[in-house]
Amino acid sequence: MADREKWEPKIAAFLCNWCSYAGADLAGTSRIQYPPNIRIVRVPCSGRVNPFFILASLQQGMDGVLVSGCHPGECHYLTGNYSARRKFALIKNMLEFIGLEAGRVHFTWVSASEGVKFAHVIEAVTEKVTALGPATRLVKRSCSEV
Ligand code: FES
Repeated sequence: MADREKWEPKIAAFLCNWCSYAGADLAGTSRIQYPPNIRIVRVPCSGRVNPFFILASLQQGMDGVLVSGCHPGECHYLTGNYSARRKFALIKNMLEFIGLEAGRVHFTWVSASEGVKFAHVIEAVTEKVTALGPATRLVKRSCSEV
């Protein structure tokens, strides 16, 4: 019980370089507070996020995953975020089908000028993942643990 009280979720956040990463940067330079639970992975575009990145994050011990890109119509590469949205819808359904809790993976849009929104998104995602507790479904175990 004491361990569970000390437990803090680890959340992989794949942020597109041109919007969401810049939004995170703005939140930081504006000194907007948000939970320190995210581990940012800067990607050129949300469309670059291969569904395998989400699976690998969960297998390697992340408790939640966030993918965030530019708003529709504002992708630096024109349609990368539309591709990301389609891929995300499929992977989210697939993960839920194999038993992963619905609140573990999230997709959102945050622009470079939305530092406040970025902080709110991180608060909301952290709250949802914390409520679910540590992820155990897809975590890869060594042979000695099986
Ligand atoms: Fe941001 Fe494509 S460059 S989603």
